[in-house]
Amino acid sequence: MVPKIYFFPPSKRRAGWAPCLGLLMFALAPLAARAQARPAPPRAHVHELFEPSTGPAKGPGYAAWLAYLPVNPALVFGTENEIPDTIVALGENVLEHSSTHELALGWRGMLNHVPRVLESARPAAPAPGENIVVLGTQAEVRAWRPALAGGAALGPDAYRLHRVGDILLVEGGDPRGVLYGAFALLRDIGEEHSLRTLDVTSRPWAQVRWTNEWDNLNGTIEREYAGPSIFFQDGHVRADLTRAAAYARLLASLGIDGCTVNNVNADPRFLLPANIQGLARIAGAFRPYGVRLSLAVDLASPETIGGLPTFDPLDPRVIAWWRDKVDEIYRLIPDFAGFTVKADSEGQPGPWQYGRTQAQAANLLARALAPHGGLVLYRAFVYNNHLNWRNPKADRALAAYDIFHPLDGKFDSNVIIQIKYGPIDFQVREPAQPLFAGLRHTNEAMAVEIAQEYTGQQRQLVYLAPLWKTVLDTDMRSSLSDPPLPVLDLIAGRSVQGFHHTLGGFVGVANVGTNRWLGNPLSLVNLYSFGRLAWNPTLTSAAISDEWTRLTFGNNPTVRAVINKLELNSWHIYESYTGPLGLGTLTNILGSHYGPDPQSAERNGWGQWFRATHEGVGMDRTVATGTGFIGQYPPPLAAKYESLKTCPDNLLLFMHHVPYTYRLHSGQTVIQYLYNSHYWGAKAAAAQVPAWESLHGMVPDDIYNEVLKRLKYQAGEAIVWRDAVTRYFARWSGIPDALHRVNHYPDRIAATGLTLDGYTPVAVKVWETAMGGKGIECVGHASCSASLVWNKPSGWYNVVVQYYDYFLGVSHFTLQVDGHTIDTWAADAHLPGMTMSGTTSTRQTVENVALHRGDTLRLIGVPNGPEPAPVDYIEVTPAAASAAPAKP
Ligand code: GCU
Repeated sequence: MVPKIYFFPPSKRRAGWAPCLGLLMFALAPLAARAQARPAPPRAHVHELFEPSTGPAKGPGYAAWLAYLPVNPALVFGTENEIPDTIVALGENVLEHSSTHELALGWRGMLNHVPRVLESARPAAPAPGENIVVLGTQAEVRAWRPALAGGAALGPDAYRLHRVGDILLVEGGDPRGVLYGAFALLRDIGEEHSLRTLDVTSRPWAQVRWTNEWDNLNGTIEREYAGPSIFFQDGHVRADLTRAAAYARLLASLGIDGCTVNNVNADPRFLLPANIQGLARIAGAFRPYGVRLSLAVDLASPETIGGLPTFDPLDPRVIAWWRDKVDEIYRLIPDFAGFTVKADSEGQPGPWQYGRTQAQAANLLARALAPHGGLVLYRAFVYNNHLNWRNPKADRALAAYDIFHPLDGKFDSNVIIQIKYGPIDFQVREPAQPLFAGLRHTNEAMAVEIAQEYTGQQRQLVYLAPLWKTVLDTDMRSSLSDPPLPVLDLIAGRSVQGFHHTLGGFVGVANVGTNRWLGNPLSLVNLYSFGRLAWNPTLTSAAISDEWTRLTFGNNPTVRAVINKLELNSWHIYESYTGPLGLGTLTNILGSHYGPDPQSAERNGWGQWFRATHEGVGMDRTVATGTGFIGQYPPPLAAKYESLKTCPDNLLLFMHHVPYTYRLHSGQTVIQYLYNSHYWGAKAAAAQVPAWESLHGMVPDDIYNEVLKRLKYQAGEAIVWRDAVTRYFARWSGIPDALHRVNHYPDRIAATGLTLDGYTPVAVKVWETAMGGKGIECVGHASCSASLVWNKPSGWYNVVVQYYDYFLGVSHFTLQVDGHTIDTWAADAHLPGMTMSGTTSTRQTVENVALHRGDTLRLIGVPNGPEPAPVDYIEVTPAAASAAPAKP
C-alpha cells in the first residue's frame, strides 16, 4: 500500500517543496512496500463530517469555536515563510487521520494556507527553510526518531507539543492524545500564541470527561432549550448523523471522551436490539473523534423489556440478563463506554423495591461491564420528593450523604458515583455537596449542568464556569493542620489525603439540540468551559472565557474585552435577581423552572424550601438548632458554615434562618439587601444591552442580532423577577423598601386600570407577577382593546407594554396614538408557560413616542389559539431629552 497522500490545491507561495517531497517519497518507499501486505485500515469519511454548512443546521454558531478564523501568522510563526507546508501523521489510525484533517482545516481557515498531508509516513529531515508538522503516538515517534520522543511516558490521552528545529511535533500518549494535541495546537494558533519555543506537555486531570444528553427516542429532550435531538427522531436513531459527528468533533477539541446520549429518566426501549443497532451508528459517528458512547439505563429493564418477573439486582436471572445484554452491546459497539444510572429518584425504579442497596444495583451493572472495560456512572441524586415540610428537621440536602456515605467502599472499582455539584439541584448557587468528602474508598465524579435549566434556559446570559469553580475550589480537608483539599482533587481519580480513588472525573449535562447546539451563541462558552475545566480545573474562568472568545470571534481586543466582561459578570447579575444570599433559584420548581415563583418551592414534598415566615427567612441547617446538614461537612468547613460570624453572606440563607432585620457582613439588613440586590441586578442586566451594541459591525450580523434580541428580552425579564421577588418578600416581611421602589411604580398603569373594551380582568395565580395580582385577557372576541387618555404634559415618551406570551398561540398587538398605529408585534416567543405568570411575562418597548395631553393611547390585542392576548401593564416614561424622535 502506498501511503495515503492528500493533494490539496497548491499553495500560492510554495516553491521549494517539490524536490523535498520527492526526497520524502524516496525515504518512504521501503515502508510503503512493507505496508502493502496489510489490509487498508478502516477509514471514516471524516471530510464529509466537516461540511456542517451543508446540513439543515447550517447557521452561525454551528462551527462554534472551531470556525478557524484568520489570524496573523507572523505572531504565531515569526514570518509567513515559516508556516509549515506539510503535515505528516506517523500512524495510520482513524484518530490520527482526523488530526491531520483537522490541522489542514485549521491551516486553511486561520493561515490561508493549504498544506500537504501525508499519512502513515516516515518523513526525512526537512530541507533547509522548510517546516513540517509531525503527529504520532509516543511509540511511533520513538520508532521514527528515538531522540525526539519525550523520556517519561505521556500516558493515556496526554500530549506533548514540541518544537524541534523545523519540526513541530504533536506527540500523543495514545492516538486520542495525538488528536487532543492537534486541537491544542490549533487553539494556540487561533489565539495567536507564538510557537517558536513551543514545549508543552498536558495531561487530563481525570479519566472520565463525559457529557450527558437527556434525549428521548421521540426526538424531544428533557430540559430542551436549543431545539430537538441531534441523535433521535420519531422513535429511532436519525438517519443522518452528520450533526452527531460534528458534535463529537466539538467534544474532542476539548478532550471530552464520552457521551451518554439518552435521558437519565431512561426509556428501557433503548436496549432493544433495533435500537442498539442504531446506537452503534451513533458510536460510529463519534469514533473518528475518540468519543465513546454510553447509555442511561432503567434498572427495571429486565422486567419491562426482558420479560422477567423481577429486576432484583441479586436475582441470578437478572444478573444473567444484564450480562447478556452488555455482551450484545459490545458485539456492536466494541468501545462502548458504559452506563449512567438514575435509580430510586423522582419516580425511577431502583433497588430499594427489593430491599437492596444502591451499591448492589451499581455492582450488578459493573460486573456485566467489567470484562469489556465499561464503567458505571451511578448518580447520587437520590432523594425523597415526598418530604414532610412540616417537620423542621426534614431536609432534602441530607439525602445523598445519608444514602451513599454508609455504602462507601462497597462499590466495585469500575463504578463512579456521579455527584451534582451541590446538595439540591443545579441551583444558581449552592455549597459543595458534602458527599465529595464522604466517599474515601469509592470513585466519584462531579456533575454540572451546561444546559441552563435553573439559570435562564439560554434565553438569559449566564457564564457558569465561575459557579462551578466555587465548588471545585471548596476546601474539604479534615483538619486545618492538613494541606488544602479542594473538591477538584477529590474527583481527580487518584489517592489523596486518605481518599483512595482509582477513577474520577467530570460530567456535564449539555442537552445540545439542532439549534446551534445551545441556541444562544454566547451560551456555548459553557460547553467550552466545561470541557476545558474537565481537562484542567485549575484554569481560571477569565482565561477560559478569553480563549473561547478569541476562537469564536477572533482576536480583536475590543471584542474580547466586551465579551469577556459580559460573560464574567453574568452569573453574579443573574444570581442577584433570581436567588441572592443562598436562597436558591426562586423559580417555578413545579413546572418549567424558569420564571419567578418563590411560593412554588415552599410547603410541598420537593424540599427546595427557603422557609419564609413573617419574621425571617432561610433554612436552618445548623447542627445546633437545625437539620444538621452542616455536620456532614468535614470539621473546618462545618465550623465555618455553622457560625453566623463566618458563614459567607452568599450562602447565609442556605445555612441559616435569620430575621429579615439581621445584618449581613456588609451592614445591610437581609430584607434591604434583597431589595437592593434585585434592583441592582435588573439595572445590570439592562446595561448588558448597550455593551453588546458597542460590538455592532465587529461580530457577524446574525450572531449580533440573535444575542441582542436575547439580551433585550433578558433586561425585561430581570424586571419581572425583580418586581415579583421584592413584592413577595415585602408582603412576607411587612418591611417596606427604604428606597421606596418596591410596590411604587409611578409611571405604570395596571392593565386592569385602563379603559377596557372586550378585555376582562383575571386574577393571576402567582400574584406577584402581575400588577395588583391581576392581568387582562381577551376571551370570546376577535380583538379587544385597552386604552387611556394621556393627561400628563405633552412630550416625547418611551412606552412599555408588559404582556404575556404563552408557549402556544401567537397573539398580535397594535399600539395606537389617537388612531395612528405606532407599533405592531406578535407574541411569538413561545415562552414555557400557558398562563399569566413570571415565566410568560415579557415586554415590547416603543421608544420616542410623541404624546400630547388629551391623546388616546390604545392597545389592541388579537388573541390566537389558547393565548388570549394577555396584558399586565403599560408604562410610560419620559424619553431621554437628546433622543431623536423616531416615531410620529
Ligand atoms: C432536575 C431536572 C430533571 C432531571 C433531574 C435529574 O431535577 O429538572 O429534569 O431529570 O434533574 O438530574 O435527574
